[in-house]
Amino acid sequence: MTNLTHNLLSWYRKNRRELPWRTKKESICPYYVWISEIMLQQTNAKSVIDYYKKFIKKWPTVYSLSKAKLKTILFFWQGLGYYNRANNLLRSSKIICNEFNGKIPNTYESLIKLPGIGEYTANAILAIAYNKKTIGIDVNINRIVSRIYNLNTTNNREINKKIFNLIPNNNSSDFMQALMDIGATICKKKNVNCNICPLKKNCLFYIEKKRINFESIKKRKKKFLFVFLLKYKNKVLLKKRKKTKLLNGLMEVPNYLLNNKPSLKKVKKIAPFDFDWNIAPGKLNSRISNFDLEVRFLYAKVNKNFFLNNKTWFDEKDIKKVPISSLMKNILIHSKPF
Ligand code: ADE
Repeated sequence: MTNLTHNLLSWYRKNRRELPWRTKKESICPYYVWISEIMLQQTNAKSVIDYYKKFIKKWPTVYSLSKAKLKTILFFWQGLGYYNRANNLLRSSKIICNEFNGKIPNTYESLIKLPGIGEYTANAILAIAYNKKTIGIDVNINRIVSRIYNLNTTNNREINKKIFNLIPNNNSSDFMQALMDIGATICKKKNVNCNICPLKKNCLFYIEKKRINFESIKKRKKKFLFVFLLKYKNKVLLKKRKKTKLLNGLMEVPNYLLNNKPSLKKVKKIAPFDFDWNIAPGKLNSRISNFDLEVRFLYAKVNKNFFLNNKTWFDEKDIKKVPISSLMKNILIHSKPF
């Protein structure tokens, strides 16, 4: 048995919907299965329950049904729709009594000839009532299998090829009904509830969705900014930003922006001027619009007030008067102790 099948059947044992046509395995009655499957054609389980109970009470066997009057069956059928089903049930019940000794046929060839039974219903009866290794594929099962295998088709033959290997040898009945319950309660067309699905580990739809969700919340890009604080007495060296669209003309502490974190040793090599740089402990984290920034500080003290092109010494207490970005303001506040 495949892992998927095992997961499905264990789930079904604990979570199956209690429906009146679901009897214990030992007492599966093909007549009940046939009647329920006909009623469930184009009709949901909830709407069928009361009709089914009354029907079985009135006609508990195929013999009793074969003797019924169409008018009476139609009376019972009122409100369920698709009234031709009632007519087909009566015609089939007579054939079953006359040609099959009152036994619901257990082969596809015989079932398919009965009025009202198509490919789906024939396979559903074979699987549910007789545990034959087959399955009826309706839109729900089609959807589930397409999702599990990420198929780009709704072609029942393709679906059947995929699902056949999953059918357990002696329990198609539970297998098919379990899939019906998954389709009705979890793997719905809309509002899919993958989180509680017993098949999620085997399902490409879930795995793929998780991957996409994961990717959409993937880590923001991180960059590393190294600032070089050159201090002379109470002054700090600032330079004018290169002319860019962003932060044009503002002053800044000389710095170097990197996409990857270099070793601190290497950082000294990229320093803009050749000084004896100290690496300050700690870092400053900042959130820029489309990336996160980790700021690291290097500092050096000089005892001579010299001039460098485009660079100016600023007294720390005058910094407020200098046009700088809020990130640089933060950097300068952070670097006061150095
Ligand atoms: N829809 C069609 N057949 C069904 C079944 N046996 N149980 C629940 N829903 C169904």
